[in-house]
Amino acid sequence: MILDAQHPLSSGLTADSRLIQAYQGVRPDVTPVWFMRQAGRSLPEYRELRVGTRMLDVCLDPELASEISLQPVRRHNVDAGIFFSDIVVPLKLVGVDVTIVAGKGPVLGKAVRTSADVDELTALDPAILDEALAPIRDAVGRAVSQLGSTPLIGFAGAPFTLAAYLVEGGPSKDHIHARTLMHAEPEAWARLMAWTADVTGRFLRAQVLAGASAAQLFDSWAGALSLVDYAASVAPASAAAIAHVRDLSYSVNGADRNVPIVHFGVGTGELLKEMHNIGADVVGVDYRVPLDEANRRLGGAVPVQGNVDPALLTAPWPVLEAHVRDVLERGRSAPSHVLNLGHGVPPDTDPDVLTRLVSLVHDVSAAE
Ligand code: CP3
Repeated sequence: MILDAQHPLSSGLTADSRLIQAYQGVRPDVTPVWFMRQAGRSLPEYRELRVGTRMLDVCLDPELASEISLQPVRRHNVDAGIFFSDIVVPLKLVGVDVTIVAGKGPVLGKAVRTSADVDELTALDPAILDEALAPIRDAVGRAVSQLGSTPLIGFAGAPFTLAAYLVEGGPSKDHIHARTLMHAEPEAWARLMAWTADVTGRFLRAQVLAGASAAQLFDSWAGALSLVDYAASVAPASAAAIAHVRDLSYSVNGADRNVPIVHFGVGTGELLKEMHNIGADVVGVDYRVPLDEANRRLGGAVPVQGNVDPALLTAPWPVLEAHVRDVLERGRSAPSHVLNLGHGVPPDTDPDVLTRLVSLVHDVSAAE
């Protein structure tokens, strides 16, 4: 489907931005930079807005969600906004009993542990999301109208990461119940993954149709899986999730382009090639694998995103600077590179360090 003429990719507002060029495999004059979790607790203006509110209520308030999405863009001069929301928002909207507990993460009213639990969950009809996602479309529209030529990135959780919360009932270290269900009840697992792919795929598509210029699928916990399990029991559902946006296109100077899709995971060094193979355009790399090695594993033709170690954000500046220069240098081996962190911004990060890091990336890459 072709995006409508008002979409910022179709109208040309964001199609030539550094971020979209890099995501399309073209190396721009300056390396673009944004940060996972750039909107959030590292910003005093965010903490101020959040006093007395609940996370999921904020996500469903279009005015607040768009304002919070814009805060880091105003402050840091990053090359993209990321939509402020959460991977469990579409679960909440489809009728799952889920809350977000501060300092902990998503917690479910009831863990999905058996085939009967999967029946109960999947009886919730993902089609109701087309209406229920209205506040998300509204929030994206508001953010995009303020962002002008700075692209907004939409995102969703990958089916495995969402299933990890659903099956565990909350955050967990090794996702052992999810991995047990995968093997003990493969048929129930497949139904759980297909349903989750549909729910999260609709969330992602709604954001792109409402004006997001790129889409990122977060499979934060896929690093808990072996390559064989990932390929057999997870990758097909991730492909089904991004199929919801894979058909979306726009044209620049008469050439058709697809809306770029980024795929990111933590501890997924062994899975990088499979994560690209689901149909992603760009692979996000965590801090464990250097970008030149990630590029080699990906075959040398895939744009990469990453991978400054978040732990170094609180190290002395010269230590961080040397690390960022090294990341930029290694990123030059790939066709194009978007600088990011290897995982989200830690809450105790000094926001001025992030602002300084953005100018360092722009200055160093412009001089090369
Ligand atoms: O700036 C951005 O990146 C946009 C916002 C964003 C949030 N969550 C806001 C949020 C994004 C992209 C996410 C995705 C998300 N949510 C992921 C994938 C990315 C990752 O970090 O691996 C995951 C695994 C979740 C689930 C989740 N939600 C966790 C682990 C937490 C943290 C719990 C905590 O308080 O430490 C949340 C809550 C959450 N999502 C917060 C924010 C700003 C904190 C809520 C608060 O301030 O009360």
